[in-house]
Amino acid sequence: MKPEVSEANLLARIDLDRLPQHIAVIMDGNGRWARRRHLPRIAGHRAGIRAVRQAVEACARLGVPYLTLYAFSVENWKRPHTEINLLMALLREYLKKEIGELNKHNIRLGVIGRVGELPKPVQADLQVALQRTCRNTGLRLTLALNYGARAELIDAVRALAEQLKRNGSMRIDEATFSQHLYTRDVPDPDLLIRTSGELRLSNFLLWQVAYSEIWVTETLWPDFTQKDLFQAIIDFQKRERRYGGLGLG
Ligand code: FPP
Repeated sequence: MKPEVSEANLLARIDLDRLPQHIAVIMDGNGRWARRRHLPRIAGHRAGIRAVRQAVEACARLGVPYLTLYAFSVENWKRPHTEINLLMALLREYLKKEIGELNKHNIRLGVIGRVGELPKPVQADLQVALQRTCRNTGLRLTLALNYGARAELIDAVRALAEQLKRNGSMRIDEATFSQHLYTRDVPDPDLLIRTSGELRLSNFLLWQVAYSEIWVTETLWPDFTQKDLFQAIIDFQKRERRYGGLGLG
């Protein structure tokens, strides 16, 4: 068995001058975590909030500027009403409880997705949290809520078509297109993390992850700790990013 590496040891191996600027995470495995413990699925989601705190704290500690978490997809509405209602309740609880912590660590909250289709009380809590953290200048924490990458692409095309109709002509290139995505003020992710061992993108940031490094761990999301995030960054820093070119040889 490999000896357990300490958090301090992992931290010491990270080159702070070459941090990923944006980490995006597909948080997966809450249900399996609960099932293995003979608990209801919602207990897995509740434990998942602990892991959210771990990931946020690790990024804030290191100075990673952007973290995006896939919290609720457009496909998640297919789940039973009871699970959806409990997820929304957990989200509201998180937003209310966490504002103090976010402000203490200078973290600014953001949201991407079709937010206008979320239940009204969730939208109201989101507005409060966004407004109360909007002056923070540290980590930008973005929650993907009622998010789907295909929906985002369609929304961008619709906005472009509207503009074209108004102006008669317009330039369409990668930069203009990116400016019409929900993530217009966030750089593309350098590192995409997925927990629970699944090898899928699940309709997450399809445009933005074109050149992201992907890191998959078997760890289920509720068991994810700062050590996992540090390990992901260490592995990321060993990769050679070539963006289709030939690299340094
Ligand atoms: C995937 O696990 C997880 C989700 C669909 C929801 C993620 C939500 C949280 C971590 C808690 C709330 C988040 C915030 C930001 C307050 P799954 O249910 O698909 O797991 P399974 O594949 O094992 O069933």
